[in-house]
Amino acid sequence: MVSAISALAGLLFGYDTGVISGAILFVRKDFLLSTVQEEVVVAAVLLGAVAGASFGGKLADALGRRKVLIQVAILFIVGAIGTALAPLPTLLAIGRVVVGVAIGIASFTAPLYISEVSPPAIRGKLVSLNQLMITIGIVVSYLADYGLADKEAWRWMFGLAAIPALILLIGLMFVPESPRWLMGRSQDDRARAVLQRIRESGDVSVELAEIKADLSLQEGGWRELLNASLRRPLIIGIGLAAFQQFTGINTVIYYAPTIFQLAGLHSASAAILATVGVGVVNVLLTVVALRLLDRVGRRPLLLYGLVGMVLSLGVLGAAFLFASSSSIVAWLAVISLAVYVACFAIGLGPVFWLLISEIYPLKIRGRAMGVATMMNWGSNLIVALTFLSLLHSLGRPATFWLYAVIGILAWFFVYRLVPETKGRTLEEIDASWHTVGKDHK
Ligand code: BGC
Repeated sequence: MVSAISALAGLLFGYDTGVISGAILFVRKDFLLSTVQEEVVVAAVLLGAVAGASFGGKLADALGRRKVLIQVAILFIVGAIGTALAPLPTLLAIGRVVVGVAIGIASFTAPLYISEVSPPAIRGKLVSLNQLMITIGIVVSYLADYGLADKEAWRWMFGLAAIPALILLIGLMFVPESPRWLMGRSQDDRARAVLQRIRESGDVSVELAEIKADLSLQEGGWRELLNASLRRPLIIGIGLAAFQQFTGINTVIYYAPTIFQLAGLHSASAAILATVGVGVVNVLLTVVALRLLDRVGRRPLLLYGLVGMVLSLGVLGAAFLFASSSSIVAWLAVISLAVYVACFAIGLGPVFWLLISEIYPLKIRGRAMGVATMMNWGSNLIVALTFLSLLHSLGRPATFWLYAVIGILAWFFVYRLVPETKGRTLEEIDASWHTVGKDHK
């Protein structure tokens, strides 16, 4: 229940990033936006997310995971209502920055919190509930955009997000603080009480002793984060954050109808329908990932997923060489895009957020996740801002092949650096960084 409630933050992440694709058409018309103004309104949420991630980690370490999520839920409500009522484009952009700050903080605090309350054997599944909710949020936003399109009701598109945000806020009243964070604050008795409440077996002393031993290994400042033994997890977090975005996933999530039209699917309704289809594939394959993460492990899913992403990007690029010559080519583009999203959903999508919730020591977990998350949103922003110009300058095939080449680099990065964390306690994973020369694969 704790995981399901926290994962509502994922639903808001997905909804609030996806909703702009449809809403912007009507915002543009109502406010007579110039191209630059339109870009600002679209990018505002990503800018806010970078900012939120930059200070959210410190908050999560200082105030506690649950308290920060409560504040984030309030911010989501304020942002939803503010954007729904905004009388001027500037105020709308400011409202979207507020929503972005909430997304930036929520995007890692929810997996962090879930990871710390989960039993190791099912941690992969529980943490990735958050990713599942992101993908569901994206589809719901596409459907809301679609349903509200004939009324041009963009204010409702933004405002509807207040409902899940309110449910998140109410739900958080009933969940306990993370026992690991409590231990870090020397509140051992409260930590014990929480663990006894959320574990099936009443005896939690072994888990408590492990957490305590782990805490004694560490200092808590930025210096610790740059310490030699933590260099590798830091590189893994930052590297995966960049690769998750620079392999191009959000060109599809944010621009799918445009891509389909470029590939020769000329009717707008066919393009939108194909987009919803791609969103559904994203959800379904995330469900499959949830079932596999704790069984086959994180590494194989990442490695096989990347192979699939690279191959499908290759085919997609090739399809553009022949685009608009026949409808078969258009459908080849649709299918390769669906395969690409499927391979992301089974690997890099959930595994990035999962791994960064597992590989850092307790005392600096919030801050370290914040750094990786900031990198993720920063890279997202760069891809979103450059995609359309890349299509113009490099051409369509080369743009997608560029993302494929980055996917190949990502494969080698994962193969060489990323450890398997399946079934291990967070404390075991941390201890492994301190063992010099240990093979992490
Ligand atoms: C990524 C988002 C992306 C989403 C798509 C997440 O893991 O961080 O940028 O939009 O997956 O499902």
